[in-house]
Amino acid sequence: MNINNQSTTAFEGQKPGTSGLRKKVKVFQQPGYLENFVQSVFDSIGDFQGQTLVVGGDGRYFNAEAIQIIINMAAANGFSRVLVGQDGILSTPAASCIIRKHHAFGGLILSASHNPAGPDEDFGIKYNIGNGGPAPEKITDAIYAKTQTISSYKILKSSVQVDLSKIAISQIGAMSVEVIDSVSDYAELMQSLFDFPAIRALLASDFRMCFDAMHAVTGSYAKVILQDMLGAADDSLINCIPLEDFGGGHPDPNLTYAKELVDIVYSNHAPDFGAASDGDGDRNMILGKHFFVTPSDSLAIMAANAKAVPAYKDGIAGIARSMPTSSAADRVAKALGLDCYETPTGWKFFGNLMDANKVTLCGEESFGTGSNHVREKDGLWAVLFWLNILAVRGESVEHIVTEHWKEFGRNYYSRHDYEAVPTDAANQVMQHIRDQFESLQGSMLAGRKVQTCDDFSYTDPIDQSVSSNQGIRILFEDGSRIIFRLSGTGTEGATIRLYLESFEPDTNKQNMDAQDALAELIEASESISKLQHFTNRDKPTVIT
Ligand code: G1P
Ligand code: ZN
Repeated sequence: MNINNQSTTAFEGQKPGTSGLRKKVKVFQQPGYLENFVQSVFDSIGDFQGQTLVVGGDGRYFNAEAIQIIINMAAANGFSRVLVGQDGILSTPAASCIIRKHHAFGGLILSASHNPAGPDEDFGIKYNIGNGGPAPEKITDAIYAKTQTISSYKILKSSVQVDLSKIAISQIGAMSVEVIDSVSDYAELMQSLFDFPAIRALLASDFRMCFDAMHAVTGSYAKVILQDMLGAADDSLINCIPLEDFGGGHPDPNLTYAKELVDIVYSNHAPDFGAASDGDGDRNMILGKHFFVTPSDSLAIMAANAKAVPAYKDGIAGIARSMPTSSAADRVAKALGLDCYETPTGWKFFGNLMDANKVTLCGEESFGTGSNHVREKDGLWAVLFWLNILAVRGESVEHIVTEHWKEFGRNYYSRHDYEAVPTDAANQVMQHIRDQFESLQGSMLAGRKVQTCDDFSYTDPIDQSVSSNQGIRILFEDGSRIIFRLSGTGTEGATIRLYLESFEPDTNKQNMDAQDALAELIEASESISKLQHFTNRDKPTVIT
């Protein structure tokens, strides 16, 4: 193999955030930009000589080009095998599944998740370790440090273009490249977890569903799993042809961006069940007929009904949720006598807990749910979990949720996002609240007593690593919470996320609109943060 030690100069701002490195496509297309990052990854992950690397992405614009570069660099750096999804496609959970199943050293996943795709939109790359999960902070910090000092990268002298369209094995010098089916390993895993015959029977009955892949990666997976294996009707899958610009859409499965699906489930001909997944297939939104299930409730309900699913029939080890996620899951954990962990935002914090078998189910309010079957959140898995519950219980989504509230109480919940605000203004907002910590303590706000306020900090119970400044929490004595946090995934300015939660045990008061139920807390949030004043905005960009 003829290897080129291509000299290069470091780029500003190659700092991987909670979900890897995300930048505009044009930034990634600068000569040496992707290469620098990939080399920095390779230089930071330890000895992989003779090992396997998994590569694939959500199929967005620049996916295929990036994969060819990575293959040429993997060969030059000494990997002995690259497993790459056909056409360069691997959903994030499928990549996690493949890394684990094939005992790979790690994987490079090309995606900017739900961010729009296309020549003028976003691209992203992240490294997952051998357990199939996102690299922990000590690795991402090392990668970042390397990107600041890198002076050369290794790549094959004469570039090899692998035909990604055919399932085949080829050889580049000492390294083999296996183009594998993007779906089959993952589909097999799903079949081993869920009661496929029961779901198949449900879908063969008069039950109707609508799954929206939002023109992103899960289209390929839904066709095989929902349609071919489970018999979902043709018209129950929408936007299932993956496109490299996601059809110009913003494939984020929430009430704002999955509008087409939301309109369908709130129409006169609404199906019994609606679901959507995001760009790279790790997020999910669950809907019933004229009914929205918040992701926080979804996690709690899955936990409460886990025994309906074959893979979890003997019970679960514990539950973990990200700090801003509502405490609905905590109530289920308490009732089941399980531990419940509160981690910072981002899936990587769940990995250690799952590896140590402390938790089985995890979730985030940001439409992410998953279990220890992989080390990523998993959109289609959540859809199958709900279908499995629906098949076993034979009740509507709304009935299952309202019964859950009756039993455990309802955690009213909402997230208000202020996207693309100037970074200075966002920092001002956060500092303004911090400055009031002392006076807020014990005071009355929104008709409730403030118990405590702080900057959330987390000590990993397994490796004792500490993550601080993970969001500002204002905790009330009655269980209500107001949380302010700056997003770590945006690509433009800063995004302020305001998370609101209140608890309602009274069954007669559980049918309010969430925004109405949270009105006092919303008002109080503005009064203490001056968010709208500092950012010059009069309303959030997205409310979920
Ligand atoms: C967002 C979500 C977070 C999720 C991450 C990756 O991060 O809020 O829960 O883990 O995307 O999908 P944020 O932009 O808030 O940092
Ligand atoms: Zn995603």
